[in-house]
Amino acid sequence: MAEIILTPLDNGPNLIKGPVKIIDAEGQVWEVKKETVALCRCGGSASKPFCDGTHGKIRFSAVNRAPRKA
Ligand code: FES
Repeated sequence: MAEIILTPLDNGPNLIKGPVKIIDAEGQVWEVKKETVALCRCGGSASKPFCDGTHGKIRFSAVNRAPRKA
């Protein structure tokens, strides 16, 4: 199985690199063929679950960090 890398961008989407299948709460499936996909994190995209750039227009702000490992 290939490694999947998820990178939350500051004030933007979650980038997922790797072969992914996205299944929403209603069971709708998106087979993603692109190498990298951006998933909306701001809730404003008209193309959910994908980012359409709206986060910039609505000035979405999220710069969360996980605690550093000791
Ligand atoms: S994160 Fe880009 S449109 Fe929501």
